Amino acid sequence: MIFGARGDLTKRLLTPALYNLTAPELLPDGFRVLGVDHNAGDDAAFGKDLAAAMRALIGNTANEASEPHLDKTRWAWLQQRLGYLTGDFEDPQTYGALAARLAEHAGGKRHGVIFYLATSPRFFGDIVDQLGKAGLVDQASGFRRVVIEKPFGHDLASARALNRRILKRLDESQIYRIDHFLGKETVRNIMAVRFANSVFEAVWNRHNIDHVQITAAETVGVEERGAYYDQAGALRDMLPNHLFQLLGMVAMEPPNSLSADAIRAEKARAIEAIEVQTPTAALANSVRGQYRAGKAGGRALPAYRAAENVSRRSHTETYVALKLGIDNWRWAGVPFYLRTGKAMSGRDTEVVIQFKAPPSQPFQQALNRAPSQLVLQLQPHEGLSLAFDVKQPGADVRLERVWMDFRYADYFKAAPGTGYETLIYDVMIGDQTLFKKADEIEASWRAVQPFMTAWSKGGVVHGYAAGTNGPSQADALLARDGRVWHEVGS
Ligand code: BG6
Repeated sequence: MIFGARGDLTKRLLTPALYNLTAPELLPDGFRVLGVDHNAGDDAAFGKDLAAAMRALIGNTANEASEPHLDKTRWAWLQQRLGYLTGDFEDPQTYGALAARLAEHAGGKRHGVIFYLATSPRFFGDIVDQLGKAGLVDQASGFRRVVIEKPFGHDLASARALNRRILKRLDESQIYRIDHFLGKETVRNIMAVRFANSVFEAVWNRHNIDHVQITAAETVGVEERGAYYDQAGALRDMLPNHLFQLLGMVAMEPPNSLSADAIRAEKARAIEAIEVQTPTAALANSVRGQYRAGKAGGRALPAYRAAENVSRRSHTETYVALKLGIDNWRWAGVPFYLRTGKAMSGRDTEVVIQFKAPPSQPFQQALNRAPSQLVLQLQPHEGLSLAFDVKQPGADVRLERVWMDFRYADYFKAAPGTGYETLIYDVMIGDQTLFKKADEIEASWRAVQPFMTAWSKGGVVHGYAAGTNGPSQADALLARDGRVWHEVGS
C-alpha cells in the first residue's frame, strides 16, 4: 500500500522500480499495489496516470533507471495489479476502507502487507498511529511492514520524537527506514572492496589516508520540489541520510558477520563517532551556497529564488560543504570533507580516498602533486579508479600519473535501476540490512545539529552561478588545510 500514491516519488521512482522488478520476475503472482492519496480517482485513472509517467521516463538517457523501451507485457502485468483508494491520511475512515480492500483481496488467505509512506514527512507519525489503531499492523495473518521515507525528522529532537511515536505501534523489526543510496550497487560495493580484499583494508586507516572526500553533485535544480526543499535545504536533504550512509560504509569497522544486525551496528558506531562540533567550530567548518541563474546540465536554469514555491528572499542553501572528524582510533586526525549541491557543473557522486605521501619522497616531481588516490564512483558511471605514479619509459626518471579503472558497465550487464528495486525486494523478504535503525538516524542528526544551530544565528549563504561548482569559499575550506577538491565529473 503506497500512501502518497499520486506524488512525485511514486511516479518517478517507486513505479519504475516495481516495473524493473518484473524483469527478473521478482514479484509474486498475487502481488498488488493499492495506492492511497487524497485526490479523487479510481483504479483505472491511477493506472493510466502511472502509465503516462512511465512513458515519460522511458528512453530518457539522463535517467539511469530507464530502459530504452517500455516492455508492454511487463507493464501490462503491473498495471492490472494497480488499485487506488481516495482517502485523507488523517481520517480514520480511510483506514476502515483500506482494511476492507485488503480483506477483499486476501479472501481469507494469509498475506503480507507493506505500507509504504511516500508522503510528506508531517504525516509519518499520524499514519503509523492510524494503522495501529485500525489493527492494520497486527501480524496474525501475515507480516505487516512499514517503510518510512526520508526526511526522518528535521532535527535531533523531532527524529527522536518520531522514533518514540512509531515504536509505540510497531516493533523495530517491522520498521524499514529507507535511504535509497543504500540500494545503489557501488554503495554496497564499498563493503565488498574493503572487506573482501586485504590490499585495501590494510591501508584503510589514519596511518595511510590523508583525508576523505564525499561528493554528491547534481546538475538539476530544485525542479518542482520547492515547497519541500525551501524548508529542508541541502544539508537536511542529503547529509544526515545519503552522505552519512556513504561515510558509514567507508568508516565502519569490519562487521563480525554479514547479518543485518552486525552491519547496522558497525555502521551506526561509525556515525556515532562523528565529532559533535561546537557551533563556533561548525561555522568555521562549513560553507553554504545558493544557486543563481546559469546553465547547468545543458539547459538554462533560473535562479533558485525564482523557482516555484520558493520564497523570493529565501536563504535556503542549495549547496553545502562540511569538514568533519571521526573520533576513533582508525580515523583520528583524518578529515572527512563532504559536499553536495544542486545546479552544479556535472552529475557526480563519488568518494575519494586520498592517501598520504610516502614518509620520505625521493622524487622531486611527486612533491608537487597529490599522492595516490582511490576514487569510488557511484554515479553516473559506477566504478572504481586508483591513481598512482609510475616511471615513464626512457633513460630519465620521470613520473607519470596513471589510472587503473574498473567500470561496472565493462564487466557486468547491469539492469537499469533506481536504487529502490533491491530495497523494495528486501522489504518483501524481510531483510533489514540496508535500512536504518533508530540509533543511526539519531546519531546522524546529532552530528549535523551544531551546523543547523550555528546557521540559525549567523553565517552567510554565498551565491554561485548555476553550472559551476559551488561558492569559492568551499575551495578555501580545503585550501586552508593545503588540500583541493577532486574535480567534479573527472
Ligand atoms: C533525494 C533528494 O533523496 O536524493 C534529492 O531528496 C536528490 O534532492 C536525490 O536529488 C538524489 O538521488 P540520486 O539517486 O538521483 O542521486
